[in-house]
Amino acid sequence: MATVDLTSLRLKYRSEKDKFLEENIAVKEPFHLFKSWLSEAVETPEILEPNAFCLSTVSKTNFPSARFVLMKGVEDDGVTFFTNYGSRKAQEIESNPNVAATFYWLPLRRQVRIEGVASKLSREKSEEYFHQRPRASQIGAVASPQSQTIPNRDHLDKIENDIKEKLGPDGVVPLPNWGGYLIKPHWFEFWQGQTNRLHDRIIFRRPKSDDNKELVHDGENGWVYERLAP
Ligand SMILES: Cc1cc2nc3c(=O)[nH]c(=O)nc-3n(C[C@H](O)[C@H](O)[C@H](O)COP(=O)(O)O)c2cc1C
Repeated sequence: MATVDLTSLRLKYRSEKDKFLEENIAVKEPFHLFKSWLSEAVETPEILEPNAFCLSTVSKTNFPSARFVLMKGVEDDGVTFFTNYGSRKAQEIESNPNVAATFYWLPLRRQVRIEGVASKLSREKSEEYFHQRPRASQIGAVASPQSQTIPNRDHLDKIENDIKEKLGPDGVVPLPNWGGYLIKPHWFEFWQGQTNRLHDRIIFRRPKSDDNKELVHDGENGWVYERLAP
């Protein structure tokens, strides 16, 4: 099998970026900064899915697992995504609601890491969002027993066709075992890649009683921030 040359990749990543300094953070509060970076990502044409993030969960037996999902909203207290409530991720959240969400935005060379606690959105909110989706996606969500083993592709197509037949062209698609989660963060890291490997990392978290006041600075809304070595 041919080898893949990863050394040449380095060239692609070379783009000058301003240093990310504390004094340039307009509001020292992580949601404000997150929204500002997200807006830049949304406005960057090369970033096709700026709302995609890697969601990490932990199993009952303490093994981590990770997959991408799409963020569907940034609320005052967290970020939301939607999924099948019977899926592996949902089962893991059920037994351990501590999760991590990681965004990576090229070519801005930015990573945002969020750690927090996930909880289900209300049925009303899930239902409202579900019915805003294209009908084909709603049917797809009903058809797919996400994360379960299925015999083959035809099996899925058959379930989909059966549902379409049963509902007819205009039938309302019933909400399956599916809905949203809110991740309420207690830790954020904003990472700005630099060309010299001396990347910028600034984290926001809740204060601890033994914080070193020379290194840990007061932000707004009860957050503190500090710089980590890259
Ligand atoms: C870019 C991207 C976005 C995705 N968005 C979602 C999503 O919003 N919700 C979802 O359930 N799965 C989404 N998926 C599929 C998941 O990565 C995953 O395959 C699925 O949710 C099953 O994961 P689980 O078995 O760990 O629960 C997305 C995949 C990709 C690559």
